[in-house]
Amino acid sequence: MKRLIPTLKQDNVSVELIMLIRTILAASKEISFRVSQGALAGILGSTLDENIQGEVQKKLDVVANQLLKDMLLDDDSVRTIASEEEDNVVAGHANAPFIVAFDPLDGSSNIDINGQIGTIFTIYPARNDVSDDSDLQFSQPGKNQLCSGYILYGAATMLVMTTGGPTRCYTLDQTHGGYLLTTDELQIDQDTQEFAINMANTYSWYSPTQLYIQQLLLGLAGDREKVFNMRWNAAMVGDVHRVLTRGGIFLYPEDKRTGMQAGKLRLLYEANPMALLVENAGGKAYSGKMRILDIQPEYIHQRVPVVLGAKNEVAAYCSYLVDV
Ligand code: F6P
Ligand code: MN
Repeated sequence: MKRLIPTLKQDNVSVELIMLIRTILAASKEISFRVSQGALAGILGSTLDENIQGEVQKKLDVVANQLLKDMLLDDDSVRTIASEEEDNVVAGHANAPFIVAFDPLDGSSNIDINGQIGTIFTIYPARNDVSDDSDLQFSQPGKNQLCSGYILYGAATMLVMTTGGPTRCYTLDQTHGGYLLTTDELQIDQDTQEFAINMANTYSWYSPTQLYIQQLLLGLAGDREKVFNMRWNAAMVGDVHRVLTRGGIFLYPEDKRTGMQAGKLRLLYEANPMALLVENAGGKAYSGKMRILDIQPEYIHQRVPVVLGAKNEVAAYCSYLVDV
């Protein structure tokens, strides 16, 4: 099986970017170890004591954030970082070429039930026209991403990543500690009979989402004229991983609940990295009637509605949206 670094070299990824990816993956291996220790991680945190002094009993999402933050800020190629767990961006090294955003532990409500969780990350070129500690470093549309990916801490620890070319899937070999290429190119079928949405929010959806889902539930009698299955992981990494491996459509639309009127998922470290992975696997990723990767961000923790996956099904959903 092919290893990660030769695969990246074959994809003509620069040495600098490869080194940065290695930093992120070094952190992911530490997080993976912690996750696999489950409840024991809080009381027995042995390997990380030197990195996060006094914090071994903190929740895994805080530990994951601290690990990524420490390791990235130690990396000479990182100008600025942004994290779901940090209110503001943090400046790293002056004149460094890259900025990195991440969701250290996506789906953290799954931690306590031993369910799927993951780390989502994205790398952009640093901007020279704004200061290193400015949020504006990240004021770039998702199409500027140089690399995006996630590490899924499931039954196996898997890395799904694109550096602009195909979306590739690697599995962490726990015996040797390296990521091995296990699916060369992920491809999402254009059509699907499986959807993922939190149905408990039906009462608060706006009518286009209600009408679209109603049609799916009608099976052969609906306007899609096919029977659909439903899955919901409550962790975007888990749901997107399923869409990338066996197809489907994933939706987290805006709804009428307080705080959800622009949707729940964050543009910078959830929607954009996933959109790049999905597009590079032949799928579509939209926010309302707009391609996610074209959105000009307004602030780092901005939320956006998300629909992604099978091309034809995403188009079908978008056809329900009214023009504004
Ligand atoms: O990060 C937000 C998140 O945990 C996603 O991973 C997931 O898709 C979503 O929230 C789940 O939301 P809900 O609890 O509303 O189903
Ligand atoms: Mn998240």
